[in-house]
Amino acid sequence: MPQLQPLDRRSGVPLHYQIQQRLMNLIRSGAFSPSQPIPPVQEIATRLGVSQMTARQAIRALCDLGVIYTRQGKGTFVSGIKHARDFRQVHSFTEEMKSRGLVPSSKVLSFRLQVGSQEVRKALQISAGQKVFRLRRIRYSDGLPLAVECSCLPHHICPGLLESYDPSTSLYQELAERYGIRMEVTDEVVEVGKATAEEAPLLGIDPGSPVFLLTRLSYSESGEPVEYVRSTYRGDRYKIVNRLTRAKQGPLAASMQI
Ligand code: GLP
Repeated sequence: MPQLQPLDRRSGVPLHYQIQQRLMNLIRSGAFSPSQPIPPVQEIATRLGVSQMTARQAIRALCDLGVIYTRQGKGTFVSGIKHARDFRQVHSFTEEMKSRGLVPSSKVLSFRLQVGSQEVRKALQISAGQKVFRLRRIRYSDGLPLAVECSCLPHHICPGLLESYDPSTSLYQELAERYGIRMEVTDEVVEVGKATAEEAPLLGIDPGSPVFLLTRLSYSESGEPVEYVRSTYRGDRYKIVNRLTRAKQGPLAASMQI
């Protein structure tokens, strides 16, 4: 079996996610080729010093992504698909831009703790008394405005955010490193719209220009809703590339259904 890098137990990144990433890297690098079996859960667990449950969680996630598949009684094999950059995973803006060879940056429009609207509370499944962090930013790639994003996160999952976090840097990195929160699953709705008079100058386009309107609800690995985001992406500078697989996933949250 190809070498698996040891896990970083102090990073706050869940172990199953680290195993998933290590296996993914081996598959991407060609160390495991299509149709080749990957080692059994028991072997992975022993090599990395984790429970079989943790190793199985990583395997299941890769199966859900279509990267590997299981044959009853035979084992788990690498799928015969290319793992291109366009594979839609839960990426932060920073990761997405870097993977495209672009330099990300942000301008913070507002960052505060407030009472969430009914829409936000419903999506995040919190009560009227629970506050949310609301962060609104212009996101740039290579210095050019690409999107306006407005993220809402429940206060109780990352209570010191306002004090500790520099909102012009990566939010997902802060959540992972300081709070051990990783976005595991995202439900995303994409609609087409027109830039409003308020957004247009922020994006450097004319009011009424075509834009993508993205609504995202992201969940942590425990299944808790952790971020509700509404974003406006320039239609002339952004495209969405999907790979669809037959992997079984649960239904969309009711608040995200059209
Ligand atoms: C993407 C998502 C947003 C998320 C952002 C975090 O753009 N659509 O929901 O808030 O990534 O990006 P970063 O970690 O670079 O701040």
